[in-house]
Amino acid sequence: MINRDTIDNIVTTARIEEVIGDYVNLRRRGVNMLGLCPFHNEKTPSFTVSPAKGIYKCFGCGKAGNSVNFIMEHEHFSYPEALKYLARKYNIEVEEEEQTPEQLLELNEKESLYNLSLYAQQFFTKTLLETAEGKSVGLSYFKERGMRDDLIHKFQLGFSPDKWDAFSENAVQNGYKKEFLVKTGLSIEKDNRLIDRFHSRVIFPIHSASGRVIGFGGRILGSDKNRPKYVNSPESDIYNKSKTLYGIYFAKNAIISKDSCLLVEGYTDVISMHQAGIENVVASSGTSLTHDQVRMIQRYTSNISILYDGDPAGIKASFRGIDMIVEQGMNVKIVLFPDGEDPDSYARKHHPTEVESFVNENAVNFILFKTRLLLGETQNDPIKKTALIREIVNTIALIPDSISRSVYVKECSALMAISEQVLMNELNKILRAKLKKSSPDADKDLEVVPAEQMPTEPQVDIDLYSSEYQERDIIRLLLLYGHDIITIPGNTAEEEGVPVQVADYVVVDLVRDDLTFENSTFRSIFEEYKTNARNDIIPDGDVFLNHGDKDIQSVAVNLVFTNYTLSPNWLKNNIMITTEKTRLDMHVMFALRAYKARTLDQRMAEVLKRLKSATDPVEQNAIQKEFTEMKNESVRINKNGLGRVITR
Ligand code: CTP
Ligand code: MN
Repeated sequence: MINRDTIDNIVTTARIEEVIGDYVNLRRRGVNMLGLCPFHNEKTPSFTVSPAKGIYKCFGCGKAGNSVNFIMEHEHFSYPEALKYLARKYNIEVEEEEQTPEQLLELNEKESLYNLSLYAQQFFTKTLLETAEGKSVGLSYFKERGMRDDLIHKFQLGFSPDKWDAFSENAVQNGYKKEFLVKTGLSIEKDNRLIDRFHSRVIFPIHSASGRVIGFGGRILGSDKNRPKYVNSPESDIYNKSKTLYGIYFAKNAIISKDSCLLVEGYTDVISMHQAGIENVVASSGTSLTHDQVRMIQRYTSNISILYDGDPAGIKASFRGIDMIVEQGMNVKIVLFPDGEDPDSYARKHHPTEVESFVNENAVNFILFKTRLLLGETQNDPIKKTALIREIVNTIALIPDSISRSVYVKECSALMAISEQVLMNELNKILRAKLKKSSPDADKDLEVVPAEQMPTEPQVDIDLYSSEYQERDIIRLLLLYGHDIITIPGNTAEEEGVPVQVADYVVVDLVRDDLTFENSTFRSIFEEYKTNARNDIIPDGDVFLNHGDKDIQSVAVNLVFTNYTLSPNWLKNNIMITTEKTRLDMHVMFALRAYKARTLDQRMAEVLKRLKSATDPVEQNAIQKEFTEMKNESVRINKNGLGRVITR
């Protein structure tokens, strides 16, 4: 548990524009900043950040929150993970509360798996660096491969001794449960004994995007043909292979700053590239990228270069997989290494600057690469060439962006010596077929490229008389203007007005009439105002923007941003939010009046119902009287807006 002071410290230190600025290019727009939303595809920015309030909201997809929420959403972090991320960014020491044995027991299972994985990493690293066997066998293996100390350190490499249960035994002795040893796959249970999965191997810990150890790869030393070269952790609650990229934690920042990600095959490729000073590199661990892995990269960049060792035939086998990456809107480039070299061997043989320029100079756009490669195989066979055109156009059709598509049509037509028009026709055929498939009713004559979807501001048609709306409006006024002073007009024209703070006025007015809110979140917020009012305190509206209750927080963030979503309805009703502050008294009273009138209407309806079912004439009479009083009250409210509601 991170203690409350630390959380507060993190939340107040983190500058939202800096936190989000790591991921989104923000431009100033008035008091706010604006950028392209990282949570959905858009061409026109609707992602709004308020540095003053420390919050963001996307008017396209509705995502909203503070710095912590952003990191949680963007990195798929848990709440504590997001806090720790921010703490790291701002060099804040995280103070965790001491845990009692009971609390330790309660640590959920996932946490136990993380803890054990961390312990294992530390065991392996210690073994590598501090034991005689580790040094003479493991460390010397890494050294032989030319691995530098700083990289061994950075990637937390390790060694698992040549004893069947060295780690398992140690872990059990130190209180780690067999259950978790088996679940993480660190140990394999056999005849009621625990055996080390990684025994006698050098260890590559696998880190999550936030830097936690979630799994391991273990390589044999040398080249024993009878043992698999690598063994890897099995999937567990904390290790999902298809959602993990080796090296992502160490590559994140470089991927962002270079706006490009290099993809290599394996552990050693990643580390050797780092050693050559190239840090925007991740590994797929020998398989083609999954949809989730692409999405993970996409959080940081839309440019990916895939580094291949070996022969074009092998690459051909991965074309389908790359198509999928193109389909996700990535710009894919291919870098082919000289025969017999992989990024690891190349990086070890060449100077870092040579590695960098090799990658830069040999990166070829995937579509052009594919075209060239297949073209080489057609050898002017017209049938093969037709198939090639289809194949290439199929890939081009996957590109979500229409401008990019037409660029590729141009380039490929030149490469294949085919008129642009022919390719365009073929492309349109495919696009039309796709369009039909996704919406069968689509107009047959619909011409070619479907119009780009413009992100539209959600035009919420506000029902001014729904109680939900009215409750929200009062809460909004409290949050935004609670401390502001308005003047309550006197009862007669001569009588002087009384200055009061908005929050005081609202609380007193509603409490006096024994009114509260139907919506439970609004009610909780109002209760906080009420409780504080007893001590003459008006909470700062911004407190709710970072509230511990996430429903309250989310409501607060959205309400603060309501000011930027002017619906035409507002203008029709003569309520200019932009000038709200100048006529604050009017707005507050209007909000209260509307809310009361609405509540009164509801109560009148209830009374009427009672009247209908009443049989005793005395009772009928009483209810009738009650109803008339309410009716009068209602008329009064609607006339001057300042009336009291009789509630009992
Ligand atoms: N791999 C694996 N299991 C294997 C072989 C490979 O999990 N039996 C994965 C590993 O993640 C490995 C990657 O595929 O890093 C690439 O394989 P390979 O090129 O054979 O390994 P390298 O990383 O190049 O290792 P080395 O250079 O030590 O041979
Ligand atoms: Mn290799």
